Amino acid sequence: MTDELDIQGLIASAIDASKNAYVPYSEYHVGAALLAPDGTVFTGCNVENASYPATICGERTALVKAVSEGQREFTAIAVATKNGGSPCGVCRQMLFEFAPDLRVICCDFEGNVTIDESLRNMLLYGFGPSDLPKPE
Ligand code: THU
Repeated sequence: MTDELDIQGLIASAIDASKNAYVPYSEYHVGAALLAPDGTVFTGCNVENASYPATICGERTALVKAVSEGQREFTAIAVATKNGGSPCGVCRQMLFEFAPDLRVICCDFEGNVTIDESLRNMLLYGFGPSDLPKPE
């Protein structure tokens, strides 16, 4: 069980990570902080591109950093934006692969929490690894 002290730290890390966002097109800074069961935190920010669809969101930056370093289990993610916005569908799907019961906490840059919800509730009937039949 993640305690509230961890959550406050996670929120602070997400706000901090948002400062590195590369957002010349939208100017919408997103910072994410993903918590592993052992307390390790992986941060990420959105990185935009002149070819707009090549942009990666802050949540996926954090996730890909973590998985590429061998971490595959997560308990919570904090996502910080100016208005406490919610993770996009692509990010929900990618997080669901590894942590369907992830606690998702969205907040603004003052640390005010706008959403505190399980990923399973944010991606109802989500498609995950167990939905794929095993190859013959
Ligand atoms: N963005 C994220 O980083 N995470 C989300 O879940 C929603 C959108 C970014 C992508 C783009 O850089 C900017 O926010 C505006 O869409």
